[in-house]
Amino acid sequence: MKIAILGSGGREHALAFSISKSNKIEKIYCIPGNAGTCEIAENISLNINDFKIVYEFLKKNNVNFVVVGPEDPLVNGIVDYLEKLGIKVFGPNKIASQLEGSKIFTKKLCKKFNIPTAEFGIFENPDDSYRYIDNAKHPLVIKADNLAAGKGVYICKEKNESYLAVKEIFDGKFGTAKNILFEEFLEGEEMSYFIISDGKTFKYFGSAQDHKRVGEGDVGKNTGGMGAYSPSRLFNEELEQKILEKIIKPTLKGINDLGTKYKGFLYAGLMIVKDEPFLIEYNVRMGDPECQTILPTLETDIIKIFQSCIDEKLDEIEIKWINKKSLCVVLCSNGYPEKYEKNIIIKNFEKLGLNENNYLFHAGTEKKDNKIYAVGGRVLNFISLSNTYTEAKKKIYENLEKLNWEKGFFRKDIGYKVIDK
Ligand code: AMP
Ligand code: GLY
Repeated sequence: MKIAILGSGGREHALAFSISKSNKIEKIYCIPGNAGTCEIAENISLNINDFKIVYEFLKKNNVNFVVVGPEDPLVNGIVDYLEKLGIKVFGPNKIASQLEGSKIFTKKLCKKFNIPTAEFGIFENPDDSYRYIDNAKHPLVIKADNLAAGKGVYICKEKNESYLAVKEIFDGKFGTAKNILFEEFLEGEEMSYFIISDGKTFKYFGSAQDHKRVGEGDVGKNTGGMGAYSPSRLFNEELEQKILEKIIKPTLKGINDLGTKYKGFLYAGLMIVKDEPFLIEYNVRMGDPECQTILPTLETDIIKIFQSCIDEKLDEIEIKWINKKSLCVVLCSNGYPEKYEKNIIIKNFEKLGLNENNYLFHAGTEKKDNKIYAVGGRVLNFISLSNTYTEAKKKIYENLEKLNWEKGFFRKDIGYKVIDK
């Protein structure tokens, strides 16, 4: 089989790695990929937001199906576009992708189906928003209603911060803003919960906890994710039943009621408040770095899983997992998530201890003249599987020390809630 993966991050390297283990594979294309994916796949330098060019490549090279990594092409309808032209795709269509593309779409769905989420209000202009803030309880959560790559969310402790957030959003800091969303601040612990769906059936696809803030102790600016661990420490059967009955099933019904189906990964960002799950947000893809953390624990052939989703036969297979703890630490370029240097060489890869429990997935890297350069903010993902998080962490930090990249930094406290000091 010939498979194409769209995207260039750590998530896509992890997907390429899992796919490469399948004995059904003849060829993998990564569009555009990174310095890690080119070791197991052929990188193709194309703009994945130009659907026509992507289609022409897939058609010419007889690709059996394509897996879409990031949210942008999904929200912009790449699945609808390619399927209409006869290409098989793993991922949700444009209607279903509004679960991530529009926070207001999701909030309205929550309201209709009584899905537990923060109380909310929607406003269309600055004046109404300012009036609302005058009487609102703080902390107050304020969100732009468009894809903002994890940014575009403000947690405002006092009114002045709220006024400023409204101004920045309507001034277009995150792109044109037609609407603004105010949310009640939920106090609890976050958890990421994943399913995979073929439109008829869905199955569990892991749980995790990521660390979004740049600083140790979860402080400072929001990032794409500085590290993660799987499973989440909050995860248990009773909580899972609540997540499924109160959140996942009504959401999938809501999508069916729109006359379509949810196919692909679905990532529920949850806040667990006193053992009760609340939906914070949906993502219509795997998380990054959650994907890198979860996939090495997958035992079942991922191609078999994707194929069964495309054929709507997910009910016929069993998805098996390795019963180990997985931890991931992200190595970033100095300066991230603000300004950072590009095209910095990284050496010492040959010194790393990598095996069936210790993985390295590339993100913002590029290979030129047989040398590897950092070209993005999040550069490399170090993953370790073990019986304990403590042991996994030890192995990761040993490898980070061996790489000894002086132009980068990483958080030293990933998983602190599950690791004894
Ligand atoms: P989002 O992009 O919606 O996931 O928001 C980014 C981060 O902001 C989340 O991961 C939470 O840490 C935080 N957050 C968002 N909404 C709320 C809320 N209603 N209450 C508390 N924290 C929130
Ligand atoms: N790890 C957060 C995300 O993928 O959105």
